[in-house]
Amino acid sequence: MDGKPHLLILGARGFLGQHLARQAPPACRVFEADLPAAGWQGLTVDITSGASVNAAFREASPNVVVLLAATSDIDQCETDPQRAEQINVGGAAHVVEACARSGAKLAFTSSAAVFDGTHHGYRESDAPTPLSVYGKTKAQAEQLVARTLPSAIIFRLALAVGFARNHGTNAMLNKLAEKLRAGQSVAFPDFEYRNPIDAGTLVNFMLELIKLPGAGGVYHVGASESISRFELGRRLAEKMGFSSDLIQPQTSPLPGRAPRGHDHFLLTERVRAVCRTPVPSCDEVVERAVNGSPQANL
Ligand SMILES: NC(=O)c1ccc[n+]([C@@H]2O[C@H](COP(=O)([O-])OP(=O)(O)OC[C@H]3O[C@@H](n4cnc5c(N)ncnc54)[C@H](OP(=O)(O)O)[C@@H]3O)[C@@H](O)[C@H]2O)c1
Repeated sequence: MDGKPHLLILGARGFLGQHLARQAPPACRVFEADLPAAGWQGLTVDITSGASVNAAFREASPNVVVLLAATSDIDQCETDPQRAEQINVGGAAHVVEACARSGAKLAFTSSAAVFDGTHHGYRESDAPTPLSVYGKTKAQAEQLVARTLPSAIIFRLALAVGFARNHGTNAMLNKLAEKLRAGQSVAFPDFEYRNPIDAGTLVNFMLELIKLPGAGGVYHVGASESISRFELGRRLAEKMGFSSDLIQPQTSPLPGRAPRGHDHFLLTERVRAVCRTPVPSCDEVVERAVNGSPQANL
């Protein structure tokens, strides 16, 4: 050990992983790990292999592990449930085992998709009622994390927004900006409500809670109010300097897609009670998603 706490990010090349690696405090030594890919300079890991996870743990000797690696495309999970389970549940099990063996603290990102979205406002203590394969795999992974590692932190979020430096991630703004720049109109559901969070503020919450002695269990992270995806799309388009007329309402679910809850409003009293990072409004989320977030002084 070199005297610094070691932070291992699994899924570091993805949208949230890029933000976490950028915002990690300089007091930490950061190990970024992801699947092998051309040009990837971090550690390589495939969480579906216990041997690969163990090798990454040997390389990084982590004090803290943030598990972001997942298959996060909800529609792909629905069409290939075995692969979704292999990565999102089997992969999480390997990471949980390695943390239990090594004593590393685990932080895991889960989703509001563990709820069916049939009522307004979910607390951390509400029982999961997932509709989609993706939501089911996230609920299963939460259970095995909580059962084996009671001090692990599980972050649930409804929708993270922001840009990723690299293309090919789950970052919604890269894809939206590209289409709007080409003059294409984009349809967003006007019947799906979420309380979104920008990636920078989410990472501030994550880093603050990871450092907080005694923090553990599930924490909801999101804006103070919810907004339809359509309205969110309009505000994001305007903030990026495009006409909001390019955002069109999609008024019913598209056939062949995974089921999605209509109202995913995650109540955030638990993080408000313990974090200095303020819960942002939707307007603040939009501003920060497009123009960047103030970094927490941690
Ligand atoms: N973004 C959101 O709105 C949101 C909302 C709720 C929850 N979450 C959760 O937050 C986490 C991060 O999301 P994100 O938006 O950053 O997703 P992302 O951009 O798709 O990043 C996930 C990363 O994990 C990698 N990965 C996939 N399978 C892997 C494996 N077997 N071993 C190692 N790495 C693997 C992916 O690589 P490839 O791209 O090469 O597959 C990707 O780099 C996920 O667990 C997601 O479910 C995200």
